[in-house]
Amino acid sequence: MKSKSSFIYSLSCLALLAGTVSMQSCKTKTEQQQDKAQLTAQLMEDKGCLACHSDEAVLPFYASFPVIGDQVQKDVKNGKRFVDLQQVVDQLKSGGAVSEVDLAKIEFAMLGGTMPPAKYKMVHWGSSLSNDEKALIIDWARENRNKLYAQSNIAAEFMNEPIRPLPDAIAYNDEKAQLGFKLYHDTRLSVDNSISCASCHDLGMGGVDRKQFSEGVNGQFGGVNAPTVYNAALNFVQFWDGRAADLQAQAGGPPLNPIEMASENFDQIVAKLSADAAFKAEFEAVYPEGLSENSITDAIAEFEKTLITPNSRFDKYLKGDNNALTAHEVEGYELFKENKCASCHTGINMGGQSFEAMGITADYFADRGTDITDGDHGRFSVTKNESDMHKFKTPTLRNVALTAPYFHDGSKQTLKEAVEAMAIYQTGKTLDAAEVDKIVLYLNSLTGELNGKSLEDSTI
Ligand code: HEC
Ligand code: HEC
Ligand code: HEC
Repeated sequence: MKSKSSFIYSLSCLALLAGTVSMQSCKTKTEQQQDKAQLTAQLMEDKGCLACHSDEAVLPFYASFPVIGDQVQKDVKNGKRFVDLQQVVDQLKSGGAVSEVDLAKIEFAMLGGTMPPAKYKMVHWGSSLSNDEKALIIDWARENRNKLYAQSNIAAEFMNEPIRPLPDAIAYNDEKAQLGFKLYHDTRLSVDNSISCASCHDLGMGGVDRKQFSEGVNGQFGGVNAPTVYNAALNFVQFWDGRAADLQAQAGGPPLNPIEMASENFDQIVAKLSADAAFKAEFEAVYPEGLSENSITDAIAEFEKTLITPNSRFDKYLKGDNNALTAHEVEGYELFKENKCASCHTGINMGGQSFEAMGITADYFADRGTDITDGDHGRFSVTKNESDMHKFKTPTLRNVALTAPYFHDGSKQTLKEAVEAMAIYQTGKTLDAAEVDKIVLYLNSLTGELNGKSLEDSTI
C-alpha cells in the first residue's frame, strides 16, 4: 500500500516536472518536513520571538519608561523562563530533536494566537504571524510529535493530542526486579532497621506517604514532599531538582541520607544483608558480583520499572473507548488543554520531562508568606544558575488523586486548591468554580492499574 502510493506520487511528480510547477511539490515527505522545520526556525528569528525567548533577550527603548517599562522587563524575563526558543531554533537548524514539552508549548501558543503578546504587536516589536504562518508551525509541531513520540496504542482521532496513553509495561529484568521488590521493602537499608523505601513510598497509597514532609529515622522530617514512585521510570531525571540522572542513581541517595535512612555507608548495608545467608545466596544467583552499592541500587531500579500504571479511564478514552469518561470529565480535559496545563503536563507521563519555574505569572513564594527554604530553590541547587531559581521537575499527574498533599512544599491539601493555584501562578488565570471542578473530575480519571488492580485498592 505504502510503496504503491509513493510510486503514484513519484509518477505525478514526474508529470509535474514536465510542466511549469515548482520543484517544491516534488519533494519527498521527509524533505517537506525539513523545509517546514527550517521555515519555523526562520519565522522565530524574523518575527522577533527570540527577543523575549532567549538569553540574548534585548530590551526595547521604551523598557526604561516607568510603568510600561516594568511590564516589558517582566515579560522579557518571563518569556525565556517559559520557553527557550533559541534552543529550539538551534535544534531545528542542526536537525536535533525538539522536546515534546517545547512542541506542546509552541502548538498551544499558535492555536491560541497568544504570541507575540498583543501589546507588543501594537508597538512594533515582534511582528505578528499570519494565519498561514501559524498553520505551518502547528503542522510542523504535530508532524514532529508524531515522528518522534508516536505510539501505536492511541486511537487515530487522538493522534495529535499532547497527552498519550501510558504503555502497558516497559522492559525490565524479572529476576532482578524480584530482588528489587524485596530490597524496596527491606528496613535493613536504614541505620536502625526502622525504615524502608516503602515507608515513604507506600505502594498501597499511590506510591507516597501522604504527609507534607516525609518522616525518616528518629522522627526527623525532610524539607520537600515525597513524589510518587509510580511511573517514575518515565521521568527524564529524578528528584524535584533533577539531581539524580536515573532511578539507579536515585536509589543510592535515601539509604545514606542522614534524615531519611541514615546508614553510614553501603558497606554497613552490605554487611547486614550478607549476614542473611538465604538472601545472600538468592542475590548472588542473579548478581554474580554479589551485594554492593551498584547491584543493590540496580535491583531496586529494575523493580521500579515494573511500577507503570496503564488502563486509567482516561487512557481507555484515548485508546478509543468513548464510554470511559463522563461528559464532565471530557470537558475537564478540554479545559485542561485550553488553560495551558497540557503544555507542561504533557506526553505519556503528563510531566517529568522538563524543569519549569513555579510562579511564572504571579509570585508564588511571596504569596505563600513563609520563608524560602533550601527545598524551594529547585533546580538552582544543582546548577547555581540564577535562571534556574524555583524551577522544579514538572510532577507527573498520573494517579494524582491518590497523592495529596501537593507541590514540592506539600502546601496544598486538595486537588481543588492545587488546580486553582496552578491557574494563578502558571497561567495567569483565575478559573471559576465550575471550571476547577471539571478539571478536578478529569484529574480523578487518571488513576491507573498495577498488575490488573486499580491503584485505589489499598491492598496493592
Ligand atoms: C515581548 C516578549 C515576547 C515576544 C516578542 C514573544 N513572546 Fe512568547 N512569551 C512571552 C511571555 C511573557 C510568555 C509567558 C506566558 C504569557 O505571559 O502568556 C510567553 C510564552 C510563550 C510560549 C509558551 C506558551 C504560551 O502561549 O504561553 C510560546 C510557545 C511562545 N511564547 C512562543 C513565541 C513565539 C513563537 C513568538 C514569536 C512569534 C513569541 N513567543 C514572541 C513573551 C514574548
Ligand atoms: C524518609 C522518606 C523516604 C524514604 C525512606 C525514601 N524516599 Fe524516596 N523520596 C522521598 C522524598 C522526600 C523525595 C523527594 C526528594 C527530593 O526531590 O529532593 C523522594 C524522591 C524519590 C524518587 C524521585 C521521584 C521523582 O519523581 O523525582 C524516587 C524514584 C524515590 N524517592 C524512590 C525511593 C527509593 C527506591 C527508596 C529506598 C531506597 C526511597 N525512595 C526512600 C522520601 C523518601
Ligand atoms: C509552566 C508549566 C506548568 C503549567 C502551565 C501547569 N503546570 Fe502544574 N505543575 C508544574 C510544576 C513545575 C509543578 C510543581 C510545582 C511545585 O511543586 O512547586 C506543578 C504541579 C501541579 C500539580 C500538583 C502535583 C503534585 O503531585 O504535587 C497539579 C495537580 C497540577 N500541577 C495541575 C496543573 C493544572 C490543572 C494546570 C493548568 C491550570 C497546570 N498544572 C499548569 C508545571 C506546570
